[in-house]
Amino acid sequence: MRARKGILLAGGAGTRLHPVTRSVSKQLLPVYDKPMVYYPLSVLMLAGIREILLISTPHDLPLFQKLFGDGAQLGLEIAYAEQPRPEGLAQAFLIGEPFLDGAPACLVLGDNIFYGHDLTRHLREANARARGASIFAYKVSNPRDYGVVEISPEGRPLSIEEKPAKPRSAHAVPGLYFYDAEVVARARRLAPSPRGELEITDLNVSYLRDGLLEVISLSRGTAWLDTGNADALLQAGSFIQAIQARQGLKVACIEEIAREQGWIDDAALRRLADGLGKTEYARYLRALVEG
Ligand code: G1P
Repeated sequence: MRARKGILLAGGAGTRLHPVTRSVSKQLLPVYDKPMVYYPLSVLMLAGIREILLISTPHDLPLFQKLFGDGAQLGLEIAYAEQPRPEGLAQAFLIGEPFLDGAPACLVLGDNIFYGHDLTRHLREANARARGASIFAYKVSNPRDYGVVEISPEGRPLSIEEKPAKPRSAHAVPGLYFYDAEVVARARRLAPSPRGELEITDLNVSYLRDGLLEVISLSRGTAWLDTGNADALLQAGSFIQAIQARQGLKVACIEEIAREQGWIDDAALRRLADGLGKTEYARYLRALVEG
């Protein structure tokens, strides 16, 4: 199997946040001590994915380019592409076709935060699957707000619906998807939904119909956090603050993950710390090297 490539879709403004945030991409707002986009980027890195396409609006893309450059400082190769209009998550595969160039793909949404003990194992498992698609399922109290998957007692997906008025289960589908090399051809065959978008749920239904969809249930010991409105954003920040303060370890520290993966050395980590001034984040990075 060819190495899987990652697509990080950072769609720009949050429509359920104060309009002032629209002058900055929502995904660049801090969740406690680091930009929101670090969290989904860390998920790709933990899955072992190093070639990444970051898709955002023409307005926001330069901000991400300024933040990450070509990614070499993290041992990554980061490329960029514009999504001029919000025409759906599945459009990422049409925009990303030249980048993917026939490779299997992992899509992560720029505002999804994951944390938990089994996460890396699940990511590696999904990444190792050459054929078909893998999605995740996570029990939530508000399934109506998400894609919803119904799962058989054997753990097979039975149906998937986008924001159903009457959900058939409480299992939401987080914004993290693994696809084989057919994904671009399948995305091409999708028609826009009534809201005018190429829906990721329709793409998943296409794999489901062909018996090629795997669903991995994330246990309650995993956190999948939303950042869609002011409450959710504050809750996510508080959660990260609490867990980091207790353990003295950072969640989604992309510099630390790059070093753990063996993609950068201590000298490179020190340079990254030096670029972060007198922040506590910089001190944390330095302590990793200095012990
Ligand atoms: C999108 C997807 C939905 C998924 C959610 C995860 O919804 O359409 O299926 O459950 O992301 O964050 P959005 O929040 O973009 O409306």
